[in-house]
Amino acid sequence: MTDIRTVGVIGAGQMGAGIAQVAAQAGYNVILSDIDLARAEKGKAGIAKLLSRAVEKEKIAQADADAALARITPVGEVAPLAAAQLVIEAATEREEIKRAIFANVGKILAPDAILATNTSSIPITRLAQAAPDAGRFLGVHFFNPVPVMVLVEVIRGLATTPETVAAVEGFVAKIGKTTVHAFDAPGFVVNRILLPMLNEAVFVLGEGVGSVTDIDQGCKLGLNHPMGPLTLLDFVGLDTALEILNVFLSTTGDPKYRPAPLLVKYVEAGWYGRKTGRGFYDYSGAEPVPTR
Ligand code: CAA
Repeated sequence: MTDIRTVGVIGAGQMGAGIAQVAAQAGYNVILSDIDLARAEKGKAGIAKLLSRAVEKEKIAQADADAALARITPVGEVAPLAAAQLVIEAATEREEIKRAIFANVGKILAPDAILATNTSSIPITRLAQAAPDAGRFLGVHFFNPVPVMVLVEVIRGLATTPETVAAVEGFVAKIGKTTVHAFDAPGFVVNRILLPMLNEAVFVLGEGVGSVTDIDQGCKLGLNHPMGPLTLLDFVGLDTALEILNVFLSTTGDPKYRPAPLLVKYVEAGWYGRKTGRGFYDYSGAEPVPTR
């Protein structure tokens, strides 16, 4: 079975950086790659900030934070990923982008290395067609914020070997997270349940049934959710949520996944949530302010 010592992460955004952080804290060497070195370094700088906050709160020792950070090498190309036994792709949730990455990585990937995708919705078996070896390809779906959320969904494509699944389960356990298994169906287990709820919240807002505050307070206080659905959408990214719903709709043909018109409008306006400073809340001030 593949002995994982070095982990490659493709994409240094919020998910990729989170994966790099937890892997480095668990003792893995991490190669954090993005389309240019500046983006990869920005991802590492964000990790440094989170680690130093954890040191301030006395959650981890300074020496452990320093050691974890030293294990992360930011790179602006795929070639250094040849040193990794496990490469996790956490790029934009667009199939053509992921396929192009797999074609590139396929040229340099070590012969026994495993390639995993953090896709939230695209079928693993279909993506495996662009991977160098469908047997050593699978889904590892992390949740945001990665350092906090304990779950990882492990999704086996039709051709994924049991050895590949076992090696990745070992990795998930070593980083202190819990695996649930999902079949290769749109959205797997958790997003299949979550996204229709988030989408419905936007229908409720668009129809004027409740305001942003009514909807978020309602779910927080009435369901004990840690965040309301509109806050969560801003957190996940409205663009990402729309991509996922469109994958559900196109792969199943089921109209129950039709994106709420207001969600489409917000994405068209570039109001993606926290990352653009505006979504269902405005983040330009000290506290988020509801926009409707
Ligand atoms: N990165 C790292 N750590 C973070 C963080 C971040 N972005 N945000 C918060 N934290 C940490 C804090 O440092 C704090 O740590 P300590 O307990 O060690 O001090 C802890 O999380 C709690 O944070 P706060 O006290 O500031 O705030 P909170 O209690 O409101 O918790 C939250 C914040 C953990 C994000 C919580 O609101 C929550 O669980 N929200 C729901 C998150 C969720 O549903 N995620 C799944 C999204 S769906 C997805 O990811 C799948 C997909 O494909 C779309």
